Amino acid sequence: MYLSYLLVALSFQSALSTTCPRRCSCDPAQSVQCYRATEIPREIPFTTRRLYISHSKIKQLQFTDFRRMSVLEELVLLCSGTESIENNTFKALSTLKSLELCKNQLKQIPTFLPSGLEILRLTDNSINALHASDFAGLMKLRVLDLRNNLIATLPPSAFSSLYNLQSLILDGNNMESVSAPLRLPRLKYLSMADNKLNSFPTNFFASFQSLHFLSLTGNFLTKVPLDLPKSLLSLKLEKNQLKMVRLRDVKHLENLSEFLLSENQLTSIDGAQLLPNLTTLELSKNQLHTVPLRLPSRLQKLDCSNNLIQRVTAQDFQGLQDLKHLFLDNNAVSTFEAGALQPCAQLSNLALEQNLLSSIPLRQVNLRTADTLARLDLKGNDIEDVGEQELKDLKQLQVLNLRNNKISLLDRKVLEYLPRLRHLYLDGNPWNCTCDLLRTRRALVAKGTDVRGGQCAAPAQSRGESWMSSKKILQQCEDNLSSMERGKEDRRKMKPNEASSVGVNTDDDYYDYELD
Ligand SMILES: *[C@@H]1O[C@H](CO)[C@@H](O)[C@H](O)[C@H]1NC(C)=O
Ligand SMILES: *[C@@H]1O[C@H](CO)[C@@H](O)[C@H](O)[C@H]1NC(C)=O
Ligand SMILES: *[C@@H]1O[C@H](CO)[C@@H](O)[C@H](O)[C@H]1NC(C)=O
Ligand SMILES: *[C@@H]1O[C@H](CO)[C@@H](O)[C@H](O)[C@H]1NC(C)=O
Ligand SMILES: *[C@@H]1O[C@H](CO)[C@@H](O)[C@H](O)[C@H]1NC(C)=O
Repeated sequence: MYLSYLLVALSFQSALSTTCPRRCSCDPAQSVQCYRATEIPREIPFTTRRLYISHSKIKQLQFTDFRRMSVLEELVLLCSGTESIENNTFKALSTLKSLELCKNQLKQIPTFLPSGLEILRLTDNSINALHASDFAGLMKLRVLDLRNNLIATLPPSAFSSLYNLQSLILDGNNMESVSAPLRLPRLKYLSMADNKLNSFPTNFFASFQSLHFLSLTGNFLTKVPLDLPKSLLSLKLEKNQLKMVRLRDVKHLENLSEFLLSENQLTSIDGAQLLPNLTTLELSKNQLHTVPLRLPSRLQKLDCSNNLIQRVTAQDFQGLQDLKHLFLDNNAVSTFEAGALQPCAQLSNLALEQNLLSSIPLRQVNLRTADTLARLDLKGNDIEDVGEQELKDLKQLQVLNLRNNKISLLDRKVLEYLPRLRHLYLDGNPWNCTCDLLRTRRALVAKGTDVRGGQCAAPAQSRGESWMSSKKILQQCEDNLSSMERGKEDRRKMKPNEASSVGVNTDDDYYDYELD
């Protein structure tokens, strides 16, 4: 960041040194950037519309600093150790629309802000209280971002002018409670993540008639607040202490599309079908023993990873014809009833890693599912056999992760069903490196699939070799390959050092699969 300022500064300095202050760069679009200043530079052109100052040491802002900048629209003062601001410093800036004073040491909201202000960001300061007059007259303010300060309460009177406020961000403060309702009729986005809130008074949300997005992630809530506004599209309640969610209490959220409940203490959830427009439901890191019952039919993403689910039944995904992303990883699933995925005709991403599966649960999938599944993760299960039946017709499969299972054989024919396979993860399996496996190797090379791992556990003379790249195995099997087959392999010219690139990513959390 700092370096790029420096470079910009240097390149402009020579050309414009007569009109531009030291340690600043001025561009023709009337914007000025300064760094390492110890005061607001005096010589900033009066025609400046945008002023960016960062990484400076400006302890106090004074009334005289901006007095003559009569067309200033945007002022950013970042990382400059600013502690205080004189009364009226910004008052006369009638064209100022956006003021950002982030990462400083301000203890209060600057006073007498100009009434045309639309955006005010004061993130990462030490503001510990809001006062009734702080935002007085800011009828045009749309965005107020106060994240990462020390605010403990919200006095309703402080917000009474903010009739047009659309976005209020209070993440990372010290709020333990909020009192009477705030009247912010145009508010669309409210985020109070990472505070210490444990409940809301009745009617707190009643006046937010336009709210679309609400985040209360990272608080101490034990209940879903009542009276949430009907207009909500997204509700984030992750990292709280919810033990139960009564869907009856939120069923008025008829347009809710995203409901995030990960990292709570939920043991079950039932009745999500009451939210007809729900497309995303996240329940990761709870204590669910089963897949939630009665899910809404428009669901596209269901995340039940990191729970205690042991069994997936044929009814679990009934009616979920739009489901695209299903995360059941890090559970204890040992039983996955045949046909359970039959209804999911759009499934593209199936995460089943770190369970107790002994086979690939795709025996009776919808033919259309076979046409959409792009990523299948089975890492860390107890799978021994990879049969044609399970992977049949997965025409779109691009990523198959079989790492850390008990697979010793992989029939070349299985690959014929996977025309688009690009990434195959095989390490952590006890491969039996027979000459048959060499045919599979050839098929993979021909496809251009990127294969990770594949160390032989047997036979004894091949132990430790990697069957995708070993020359030794190739020689051992020489007699078993027809001359035609051998020719193919030679022409492809396996690089001798491929062995060393194989298995570089042995990190179990390696998750970086790109899909088309
Ligand atoms: C700044 O304004 C506030 C509020 O009007 C007032 O209480 C305070 O005394 C003023 N400070 C100075 C230094 O004038
Ligand atoms: C739900 O969405 C529809 C369509 O966008 C809209 O007409 C309706 O007013 C919304 N309902 C609520 C309660 O906001
Ligand atoms: C929510 O669902 C209802 C009924 O299915 C529908 O009329 C409405 O348009 C949906 N709202 C949105 C935003 O999709
Ligand atoms: C490897 O495969 C061969 C041939 O199918 C078989 O005879 C042998 O027992 C297998 N070895 C192991 C360890 O499974
Ligand atoms: C090659 O095939 C013959 C039988 O066709 C078998 O006896 C021999 O063990 C095979 N060699 C290897 C290395 O698998």
